[in-house]
Amino acid sequence: MKNAWSAWTGPLAATVLALALSACGSSGGGGAAGETTDAKSPEALVKANCISCHGNQLEGRGREKLNLLKVGARMSKEEIADKITNGGGGMVAFKGRLTEEEISSIADFLAEKK
Ligand code: HEC
Repeated sequence: MKNAWSAWTGPLAATVLALALSACGSSGGGGAAGETTDAKSPEALVKANCISCHGNQLEGRGREKLNLLKVGARMSKEEIADKITNGGGGMVAFKGRLTEEEISSIADFLAEKK
């Protein structure tokens, strides 16, 4: 239910936001447009989103497939980002739950793990 809802509201909210931003473009204030999501570290994002399945240390809870400690050795950053975005094989898709920047920073972080 939650997913169906966000599938609808996601694009809609993006459109509304884009309209709102372009509408106030002439005001010159410009403060809100450059707003940065407070930069969460990839470690914090992983702790918050991934360890429930992949284990506290990302060791995979005894399942080699879920062990992410050396995931950078077998997957590229792009493949990791794709897996996080789209899920599959028992993994949830994080599209709509994490921003592209967040997914990209997690993928960077994991791709370093070799
Ligand atoms: C609901 C449980 C669950 C959560 C939460 C979860 N994963 Fe997964 N993940 C899985 C499962 C199950 C697989 C194995 C999928 C497969 O066999 O293709 C997997 C596979 C992966 C893989 C591919 C590993 C490989 O060697 O093929 C990566 C990378 C990954 N997860 C990253 C993450 C990241 C990063 C997060 C947090 C943003 C996360 N996962 C959250 C269950 C989960």
